[in-house]
Formats: sequence, structure tokens, C-alpha cells
Amino acid sequence: MISGCEKKAEVTGVTEKIGIIGAMDEEVASLKREVQTPTVTNMGGMEFCEGTLDGKNVVIVKCGVGKVNAGTCARLLINVFGATSIINTGIAGSLNNDINIGDYVISTDAVQYDYDVSPLGFKRGEFYETGESSLPADESMRKRAVEAVKTCAPEVGVFEGRICTSDQFVSTAEQKNSITGEFGGMRCEMEGGAIAQICCNNNVPFVIIRAISDKADGSANVDYTQFEHEAAERCAAVTRYMLSH
Ligand code: ADE
Repeated sequence: MISGCEKKAEVTGVTEKIGIIGAMDEEVASLKREVQTPTVTNMGGMEFCEGTLDGKNVVIVKCGVGKVNAGTCARLLINVFGATSIINTGIAGSLNNDINIGDYVISTDAVQYDYDVSPLGFKRGEFYETGESSLPADESMRKRAVEAVKTCAPEVGVFEGRICTSDQFVSTAEQKNSITGEFGGMRCEMEGGAIAQICCNNNVPFVIIRAISDKADGSANVDYTQFEHEAAERCAAVTRYMLSH
């Protein structure tokens, strides 16, 4: 097991700083606009916006789509910008028929279902170094995230469950069934599992908060522009609630 994921970073003598990652501009733009005394640093092709938000030290960044972008971003946030916890916010596909477009899923844990060293005797998703596949989210951040959605977006459903990450956009029932059959997850996306791995390796607590944008089966007929705007506003409100509570 990759240990220490659920433990708070040792904060004695360390300034608390919350890293906030979204894959796309819309997912972080409205939060960035509210940052007080912002300092912007460009690194690794990403723009890190440091400052304070609701009285907390924050670093907000758009990482881009996919696991390499997300992992690189989390690594820079922790090792260069001193993030002591990380919130990943954005959109995801639903893997469960009970979870509808607009609902939220908060991570219990994350897996990388495209990580595959099965010819070497491992199950799909199990890491070569540890033999574990599950990357657990921080318990107290999870609770605050659920409370934040219930308070800020009472009109939508909120679910807790496993996040299934890979470098693929899931769009067929076959892909979906293969993921749920093996990993039993609630939603699929392309960054959370990579951020989780970096956080776990560094004992940095994390939570992934995602609004469902599609059913991950190619049936989606979502007005993305409209959806993204609404979801981005809700995600920003949820994140700010978490910062101030
Ligand atoms: N992000 C939003 N929808 C997704 C999907 N269907 N697959 C992967 N990532 C997503």
C-alpha cells in the first residue's frame, strides 16, 4: 500500500497552502479572478496563480488534460510551490446509471485503470512498486467536500466513490462495463488518479471533486458550453466553501 495518503501533511512549522488544480480553463478561471494579491509564475507550460482566497493561502493552476499533465502539475505544486494539500476540481463521465449529469462525485479513492503490468503477475491497475491499486483520498477533506456540495448546490445529487482515471475519454458501453466490472468505480476522468499518486507518494492529503458532464457511453448530448459554465460556477462555490470551513 502506498502509505500515508490519508494523513495530514505535517504542518508544524509549515505554512498551510492549498493547491487547486483544474484540467481546463473554465474549471479554475473564476477562482483565479478572486485571488487576493496574486503572483503568477509560469512553469512547465502551466500558469500558477498564488495568493490568498477566503483568508487561505492558495495556488491555483490549470494543468491541461491527461495523466502526465496532472502528475507534473501536482509534483510542481508540492515541491516548488509548497502545497500542503490538493483539491482537484472539474468534470467527469458517470460510470453508474444512478448518477446523472450535473451530479457530483467526491473521491473515496482513485485508481489508474490503464496502468497494466499484468504480464508480470499483477492485476490491472496494481502498481509495480507496491502491488496496490487504490490511492485513498483524505477523510476530512472528503467530508468537507460533501458538506460543501450539499450546502452550495442542494439541487444536485452528491455521491462518494472511486474515481477511475486513464488517458482515454470513455465513450462506449463496452469501455464502461470493462472499467466497472474490474474496478467498480463511480466516474471516469483523465487526471485524478495521477494527482492522487503524486499526493500519496508525498504524504499530501487530497480530494477530487467532479461534476458529471456525460454518461461515458457516447450517448451524451450535452450543451458543453452551457454545462461547463454552470459546473464551473458550482465547482468554484464548492471549493470556496471548503476553504472557508
Ligand atoms: N471527462 C469528462 N467526461 C469524460 C469521459 N467520458 N471520459 C474521460 N474523461 C472524462
